[in-house]
Amino acid sequence: MGEVTNVEEYQAIAKEKLPKMVYDYYASGAEDEWTLAENRNAFSRILFRPRILIDVSKIDMSTTVLGFKISMPIMIAPSAMQKMAHPDGEYATARAASAAGTIMTLSSWATSSVEEVASTGGGIRFFQLYVYKDRNVVAQLVRRAERAGFKAIALTVDTPRLGRREADIKNRFTLPSNLTLKNFEGLDLGSMAEAEDSGLASYVAGQIDRTLSWKDLKWLQTITSLPILVKGVLTAEDARISVESGAAGIIVSNHGARQLDYVPATIVALEEVVKAAQGRVPVFLDGGVRRGTDVFKALALGASGVFIGRPVVFSLAAEGEGGVRKVLQMLRDELELTMALSGCRTLREITRNHIQADWDA
Ligand code: FNR
Repeated sequence: MGEVTNVEEYQAIAKEKLPKMVYDYYASGAEDEWTLAENRNAFSRILFRPRILIDVSKIDMSTTVLGFKISMPIMIAPSAMQKMAHPDGEYATARAASAAGTIMTLSSWATSSVEEVASTGGGIRFFQLYVYKDRNVVAQLVRRAERAGFKAIALTVDTPRLGRREADIKNRFTLPSNLTLKNFEGLDLGSMAEAEDSGLASYVAGQIDRTLSWKDLKWLQTITSLPILVKGVLTAEDARISVESGAAGIIVSNHGARQLDYVPATIVALEEVVKAAQGRVPVFLDGGVRRGTDVFKALALGASGVFIGRPVVFSLAAEGEGGVRKVLQMLRDELELTMALSGCRTLREITRNHIQADWDA
């Protein structure tokens, strides 16, 4: 196989390298995987309206997220259990993100702790939070993330129960016994028992708080001064309540199509959320971002930035830290080229008029 020239190619390499149970956990979506395909397909229903004869000799992709300056509007989404992909796991991801000058979001269910990730050195990092039934566990974890220098909490709101991921059920997915959910190790919640179906689904059913509601977003603000991003908004209604409830930002996400199947692609849901947010908080997107052109389309529809999930674990499996670095570099280069060929020199210059969606008619 020749040189890797785009992000998508890492998926096939990861499939070759990883045990089936691990690859399937990373790759799969819920039920019919309609949304999984749609997250990608929907990008192809948006075309460009490039502007010509603009001096594009200098392109600036830098931006600010919650006041933090980063080199490009491409960040790393939280994805669980990265040491299944590579022994360096979250350490490698953290280093690659820092090297690229962008933000890594660490999953609650990481196989490295907040302290371990902080020990890799400087870099802006967010912490993704799953709310456990035991609120003392949550409060402790949030405090540890704060102390370890994490700059924001991404509160995942689309997972009161785990989506039905049939590959995980067939494989009896569970975390390999040499690994733990490191953030919970000292709390006796770090290991995952085998189950009749998906070990992760059983873990979620046992530990995660299904009663989570808007008042808990308020509660979270009483235990932390960190800004809170609400991750998993797909409607204008919930965008409005998020803003009213004190969210510092919104992540339009369908959890990489792993939760409710037949929700729209995030790139399709994005614009109604952006409109409802009325510029009061920044809106971000994740789901199916694999090309610089995808990033440009999201920005044109009003996103302040995007996050990538699977490309990180697939490139990690293929090449460790170097793979994740390469993914970030390829997306960066592609975005820069897309901007040049569209006549945009800064992210501010990217407008709704630079694209045409098939739903515009
Ligand atoms: C995820 N995602 C996720 N989200 C979250 O809030 N907490 C988590 O622990 C995880 N874990 C996780 C594991 C794996 C293997 C995947 C693929 C995804 C969802 C993730 O943050 C993000 O929303 C999607 O991955 C974005 O879609 P793409 O880029 O994977 O298409």
